[in-house]
Amino acid sequence: MPRRPIVAGNWKMHLNRSAAAELVSALRGGLDGLAGIDVVLCPPAPWLAETADHLRGSSLEVGAQNVYWEPHGAFTGEVSAAMLTGLVDYVIIGHSERRHVFGETDEDTAKKLDAVLGLGMQPILAVGELREEREAGQTPAILERQLRAAFANVDRLPEGFVVAYEPVWAIGTGLTATPEIAQQACAHVRRIVAERFGDGPAEACRVQYGGSVNAENAAALAAQSDIDGLLVGGASLNAEAFTAICRAVAATKGS
Ligand code: PGA
Repeated sequence: MPRRPIVAGNWKMHLNRSAAAELVSALRGGLDGLAGIDVVLCPPAPWLAETADHLRGSSLEVGAQNVYWEPHGAFTGEVSAAMLTGLVDYVIIGHSERRHVFGETDEDTAKKLDAVLGLGMQPILAVGELREEREAGQTPAILERQLRAAFANVDRLPEGFVVAYEPVWAIGTGLTATPEIAQQACAHVRRIVAERFGDGPAEACRVQYGGSVNAENAAALAAQSDIDGLLVGGASLNAEAFTAICRAVAATKGS
């Protein structure tokens, strides 16, 4: 069975309430019903409910950018997986900014993954190496460490599971990985998934590339055999660019 492509827009901590509503509306207009692809919008937490309301009845889905593993309690500022159920379809876990700006550990990522899987939401598990790690030839080992740690308590992957390979040196820098480099790393991600869960789940697992994706480079990245979609930051804030990226992926993967 071919893997269903998936493009997600990670808005990070951008856009006020009215700008977010405007973007949701433009993207619904441009992308609703686009065939053969999953499109996911990941707005800041305060706009999740409104975004979900606005997208009801459309083909677009909603994702959270982060989550906390405890269901409730004295955890000021956190949002639990339990609170996201029924509201979002996807949850980004282990984004490099969580890991490197907020000091999230591999163990934290594992707990978040368990919480999200336990409640039947679809994770987008982000992994990726730092520039120094790539230059030192450590990329395969870093991916292996991050994935194995995240999967520590996972028995099986749900249908359509998503891993996002995002080299940290490519995020927000304009230094997109070449399609060849991205392909190599995404193929390695799939191999690690195969070693851990077997060939069937690895073949079904969707691997996204992320890091300075734009309307110009999206098709060449999506043309790679192990790249099943894209995780888009900066360019997802622009309706025209994000629409073009989703259309490029749908066309490339559909042909
Ligand atoms: P970018 O961000 O597209 O702005 O590089 C990607 C991401 O952080 O998911």
